[in-house]
Amino acid sequence: MLKNINKDNIPEHVAVIMDGNGRWAKKNGLLRTIGHKNGVKSVREVVEASVELGISVLTLFAFSTENWNRPKAEVSALMELLVSALNKELPTFQKNNIQLQTIGETNALPKGCREKLTEIINETSGNTGLKLVLALSYSSKLEIINSIKSIAQKISDKTIKPEDINESLFANELYTSDYPNPDLLIRTSGEYRISNFLLWQIAYAELYFSPKLWPDFTKADFLEAIVEYQNRERRFGKTTEQIKN
Ligand code: FPP
Repeated sequence: MLKNINKDNIPEHVAVIMDGNGRWAKKNGLLRTIGHKNGVKSVREVVEASVELGISVLTLFAFSTENWNRPKAEVSALMELLVSALNKELPTFQKNNIQLQTIGETNALPKGCREKLTEIINETSGNTGLKLVLALSYSSKLEIINSIKSIAQKISDKTIKPEDINESLFANELYTSDYPNPDLLIRTSGEYRISNFLLWQIAYAELYFSPKLWPDFTKADFLEAIVEYQNRERRFGKTTEQIKN
């Protein structure tokens, strides 16, 4: 599969909605939390493939603000899983020059989780390879509302004028201000939804939907998504002729 990939057309930023852990567990007669545990293996595969391809940013939707409404035991299990996965993966991050970052309302996470994230973010801050961005307690609508509030405050403080507002000023207020917009958004589990993920940022992303449940999603599946992306014509509103010339 790797040989089918054009090294000159690698997406800079890939975002992934990792969906289907619960259904995978049910299908296999297991607890939902075991589904999440098995999902970590797929995270590893996708991160490894991203490093090999030289992708700059990989954003993973690990926990939405809506996920707080799940049963308490499942939420706790997910938080514990995150801490244990981060503990285990630190040597891999260092070896592969991966920088961990987060987007979302991370101050809503349990203390142990926040502390572990801060530790790994600090430990990997000097790494210059893949930026691995975990969306945690993330809601795109809330991110947009917070940006509007911040802009309104600046207008009220008279540090900017309403006519200064443009796309780049707005984008600068988002969690993702340091990253290019996603070129490719992948969602697993055969669902065709965006689920409040990076709504502003994916305006021109290519969308790829895989029928595989997240724990079944492998490196080969990720590479297949990249090949499909490379076969798309990204016109950004222009005509084919304009793109070709
Ligand atoms: C969606 O499946 C998945 C999640 C809400 C959590 C994703 C978390 C992991 C893969 C593990 C930890 C992550 C990291 C980054 C180490 P679902 O529960 O919505 O599945 P369902 O739709 O089948 O119920």
